[in-house]
Formats: sequence, structure tokens, C-alpha cells
Amino acid sequence: MFIYLPTLITFVCAIYLYFTRTFDFWKKRNVKAPNPIPFFGNYIDVFFRRKHMGVLYHDIYEQYPDEKVVGLYRMMSPTLLIRDLDIVKQVLQKDFESFPDRGVYYSKDKLGNNLFHADVDVMKGIRKHLTTVFTPNKFKSNFYMLANRADQFLEYMGRISDENGEVNMLPALRKYGADSIMMTAFGIDLNPYDENNLICDVLDEEIQYPSYFLELELLFPGSLARFDLSIFPTKIAQYFKQIIEAGATLGVTEKTERNRAIDIMMELKRQGTISSRKGDDEKENWVEITDELLAGQAFIFYLAGYGNNCLLGSYALYYLAKNPEKQDILIQEIDEVILKHDGKFSYEALKEMKYLEMVFEETLRLNPMTNAVVRNAARDVQLEGTDIIVPKNTILAISPYSIQHDEKYFPEPEKFKPERFSAENARENHPCAMLSFGLGPRSCLGQKFAQIQFGICMVKILLKYRVECTKNTPESITYTPLRLLLTPNERIYLRLVNRDK
Ligand code: HEM
Repeated sequence: MFIYLPTLITFVCAIYLYFTRTFDFWKKRNVKAPNPIPFFGNYIDVFFRRKHMGVLYHDIYEQYPDEKVVGLYRMMSPTLLIRDLDIVKQVLQKDFESFPDRGVYYSKDKLGNNLFHADVDVMKGIRKHLTTVFTPNKFKSNFYMLANRADQFLEYMGRISDENGEVNMLPALRKYGADSIMMTAFGIDLNPYDENNLICDVLDEEIQYPSYFLELELLFPGSLARFDLSIFPTKIAQYFKQIIEAGATLGVTEKTERNRAIDIMMELKRQGTISSRKGDDEKENWVEITDELLAGQAFIFYLAGYGNNCLLGSYALYYLAKNPEKQDILIQEIDEVILKHDGKFSYEALKEMKYLEMVFEETLRLNPMTNAVVRNAARDVQLEGTDIIVPKNTILAISPYSIQHDEKYFPEPEKFKPERFSAENARENHPCAMLSFGLGPRSCLGQKFAQIQFGICMVKILLKYRVECTKNTPESITYTPLRLLLTPNERIYLRLVNRDK
């Protein structure tokens, strides 16, 4: 037994040294940092799914009110939480070429080449093509299709409400979000309002629970790509690859007038390779278009399109029910604009609803669905207004939740006050303090679509119903540590009260 003791001690020491070897990184650079724990760094609560990453960042943001940046260790990977808005601007916008991607790499064949996680060359190649899906003309032609689909959603909501006296908003809105993105982007009818069809919930279960492979990648960088592993299940990669294959067999390879995401993708597939060059001064890089690469884009459209929308809608209805006087203002605006448009709900009418836009902004301010806006340093860079040089391959995280709840930028931050975003008041807001869609060349591609998707849903509901709290409506909202996006722990039950009665 004793013969083995020195070996055991040496082994434990070696493991300890290995898993703490980076922990002087921030001290050497004079950056304040909470004490890390061997192996877990500062992310032990996230690792054991006791705290959402967004909540962890917020706690740390609040603990260091006087710092521009705070050092962290994600497992052993040095990560910098940015608090200062000038540095936010530098990282996301001004010095984009130094921070061009998010630094999360996994199997390119299993969704790892989606626009969100793709490296900068793929992003530059793909983004300019997919952006064409979101032109104002496209919105106009999508509007009527989305509005028609929303009628089915309304019927469904009415049915649930009649049966139960209240609606659990998130699962109901998940159907709307999934339906609207699947129809607009791919022309696929998921038929989600059929009671026996559980497709939206099944996809949601598979997609939204964070995988431990991300932690594996942090401990052993490069391991996921090397072993062809993904942070999303293989079934999901296959599902979206089938959508691409079906697109090809259904003949959308012909250039169509419709210009949906699937049409653009099929056009890219026909081309075979595309250039990532944006301007004459950039070097030429060729991106090969494979079904796997396109499946990644289909996947990110679906995830971003349903996942954010159902949360946003649920939160907005919750705040409107909690603040009936704000709901009155919104309903009055909707009624007036529709009346002005001869009782018809059109794209032009939607654009005139300014208070609706403010509700959209304020809901996003209170609940940015993302845990952090993240960038990876592509070279050693000095951060503005500091003498800190972040070395290449350091991850930088910005917490939209913390910045948007900081009273320096938004007085009475916990209050639901859409008026903060009136044309007059918005001028007072710091230009980099609203980060729900990120900022700069890698900001959200679907922002405008998200606004229309949200607007149609709200108008359809509020033209017919008021929303009210029931005895099951939560007093306040906390976030579950178990899901990718900032999702409520509580079920948001609300009553739909017919406005005609
Ligand atoms: C309320 C709805 C939405 C929210 C809050 C949201 C939020 C975000 C955020 C925070 C980012 C990261 C930005 C950054 O790092 O600077 C992002 C990126 C992205 N979003 Fe959204 N999003 C929404 C809807 C959508 C929709 C509807 C789509 C597409 C159909 C979409 C597609 C994307 C894509 C492709 C990226 C990656 C862009 C790139 O890296 O170049 N998003 N989104």
C-alpha cells in the first residue's frame, strides 16, 4: 500500500497543477478576478447546471462595479467579462478584424459551420447571401403569409384558453415561433397546432439543453473538431440535413421569385463554391458549399427564429398583464392604426405602431435572451483606455443582461417602461447600451424579421383579447439553469379575456 503512496501523491499533484496551470493569467496582467476552483475555474455552478451562464455573468458584473473588465476562468480558459461600453464598442465594432468570431469550434459536419459559430471566412461568404432574405420587399410579401398563419395560432390559443381558463404562454408561443420561421424560411408546414403533433416540443427538447461537450472543448481545446463531435445532437444535424436534401429534390434549385432562405441555399448549392471576399482589398477565400454547411444555416435560422420569438412574446405578454395601463396604451394604438387603415392589418399599418416597437425594445432590454455576446481575440490586442493586452485566443464576454439592467444606463432598471424607447427619450440612451441583438458586423442577422414576427403576434392577440394575470401567474421571473437561452423557471400562465365581451 505504502509503496504506491508517493505515486498517488505525485499523480494528484500533477492533476492539480494541470488543472490550475492557467490560474495566474489575470493576476499577471493586473486584472481583478474572483478566485477560481481547480478544474471548474469560476464556472462550477454553470457546470453543475445550478446557475445559468447569463446569471453567473450578472452576479460577477455586480460584484465589480468599479472595474472596466473582470477576469474569469471558464474551466481553465481565461475569459474576460467586459463591463466598459467603450471597450464593448472596440471589440464588437471598431476593431472587428481583431475579434472576428466567437471561438466555439466543433464538428463542421454536425452543425458547427452555422453562421453563428462559423469562422470569419465562412461568415463573410455566407452572410451576404443570407442577408438578402431579410429585405423590406421580402418582409412585405411574407407579411400576409405570416398574418394568415397567426390566425391559426389565435384559434389554437382561444381553444386552450376556453379549455383551461388560462394559457401557459411559452409552449403555446413556441408553436407560433416554429411555424412562422419554418414557413417563411423553408416553406415547410410543421402543422404545429394539431394537438397530436409534438414536433416543436421534441425539437426544443433536443436543441435547448446544453451539452457537456462544450465543457470538454474548454478543457481540451480542439477536441470536438478532432473527434467529429458536436455540441448539438446528431439527430438534429440529420433533421436539418434532410431539409436541405428535400429542398434539392423538391426542385427549388430553379431560381425562384420567392427568395426564401431555402431558395438562396439551393442557389448556393448550385454554385458549389462561393467567395468570402467583401471588398477589393480583402484576400480571396473560397467556401465550399456542402449539404452539411447548409444544414448548419437552416438549423441556426430555426433555433434563432423560434427560440427567441417564443420567449420574447411570453415576456412581453407577461409585462403587459402586470402593467395594465401600458397594455391600454398599446391596445389603443393598435385600434387607432387599424381604423386608419380601413380596418385592415397590413405591413404598412404594422410599421406605424410605434408604441409596439417600444414594447419590443423594453421587453428585450429586460430579457435579452442571450447569456453573453462573445468574441475571440484573433491577435494580441490592447483594450482601449487600459494597459491590458489580451493575448490571441482569449475569449471576451459581454453581458447584455447586466448592461441593460445597470442603472447608469437605464434608471429604475427593473421597471417595465416602454417610454424609454420613444423617439425623444431614446436619444438619451447610450448607443452601445442595448445589446440584445449584439453589435457590429456579427450582430443578429434576423433582427428585423424578429420584430415583424413579434409585431404580428402581438397585434393578432391584442386585437381580440386582453391578457390578465391569474392566480398561477408568477410574481417575478427567474431563469432556469437548464436551457441555452434565458428561459423562465416559472410557467407564465395568463388569461385571455375576449375584448368584445
Ligand atoms: C428576438 C429575436 C432575436 C434575438 C434577441 C437575437 C439575438 C441575437 C444575438 C445576441 C446574436 C449575437 C450577436 C453578436 O454576437 O453580436 C445573434 C446572432 C445571430 N442571429 Fe439572432 N436573434 C433573434 C432572432 C433571430 C432570427 C429570427 C434569426 C434568423 C432567422 C437570427 C439569426 C441570427 C444569426 C444567423 C446570427 C449570427 C450572425 C453572425 O454571426 O454573423 N436571429 N442573434
